[in-house]
Amino acid sequence: MKSITLIMAFVLTTSTAFGDDAALTTLLKDNKCSKCHVVKALGLIETKSKAPDLSHLSKEVTGYKKGPKKFIVAFLKKKLSKKGSKHKLAWKGSDADLDLIADGLIELNSRK
Ligand code: HEC
Repeated sequence: MKSITLIMAFVLTTSTAFGDDAALTTLLKDNKCSKCHVVKALGLIETKSKAPDLSHLSKEVTGYKKGPKKFIVAFLKKKLSKKGSKHKLAWKGSDADLDLIADGLIELNSRK
């Protein structure tokens, strides 16, 4: 009985991770991020643009003094510059969706 519970717990956690990846992929596509960025960790490769692969965040983002999430949110809203320039696209979606994208990218970046 114990092993069945363990297997079920495993199946549940892995399927949640896949579910999150699918949700993040949809958000990135719906908000046109995938027009400029590839996200190889999600298998999202729809552009030849030179914008960075969002599977790995740069030190400007991860090392931001107020934390990577604050950086991503402010950068996407063009309230913050990276190396003196603002992001190409101004965020037009909801705060909740931007929150999910920021959390998703940070989680993706934390994987080996
Ligand atoms: C018109 C093209 C374009 C679109 C659309 C776009 N980006 Fe970008 N983005 C860029 C470019 C170019 C850079 C690199 C700028 C730099 O490093 O200073 C960048 C940088 C970033 C960075 C910083 C990456 C790092 O590690 O430094 C993040 C995060 C990011 N974009 C997220 C997004 C998200 C989320 C979306 C969708 C809402 C999006 N971008 C849509 C062109 C785009």
